[in-house]
Amino acid sequence: MMKILLVHGPNLNLLGKRSPDVYGTSSLEEINTRLRGIATGLGAELRVFQSNSEGALIDAIHEAADWADGIVLNPGAYAHYSYAIRDAVESVPLPVIEVHLSNIYAREGFRRQSVVSPVAAGCISGLGWRSYACGIEALIGLVKDRKKHRKAKD
Ligand code: DQA
Repeated sequence: MMKILLVHGPNLNLLGKRSPDVYGTSSLEEINTRLRGIATGLGAELRVFQSNSEGALIDAIHEAADWADGIVLNPGAYAHYSYAIRDAVESVPLPVIEVHLSNIYAREGFRRQSVVSPVAAGCISGLGWRSYACGIEALIGLVKDRKKHRKAKD
């Protein structure tokens, strides 16, 4: 069974309470439950990790190289300035889909740039919790394509 790591960065533990007009009214646990159901329906196992600490996020990304087929990552505000998280994404041989609940391109200037996007397989922004759902679906497709391609080469 395909295995996916879903990583939530800082302040996302407060979803539902934090700026619900921007991020929605669902809690992180509610979103995770929905996403686990979606992943299972698509034949994948979803493991979830949330941290407010940059180092813990980096460790989770590194460790995923030992067991996961790919990562869906919402780096939170770290997207905008953490070269360390960008380097972690670049360092693992896994496809990483960056997601944001809000449309970062329609917000304050400092949010309009992500230093992670250039090393991500793709980026989905602005669809609320559905950004994660799209990220998971896209990742499963990408991983399947890569496996097929590898088999065809063998
Ligand atoms: C966010 C967007 C970031 O700018 C912000 O700092 C977050 C959440 C999003 O999901 O829309 O914490 O990553």
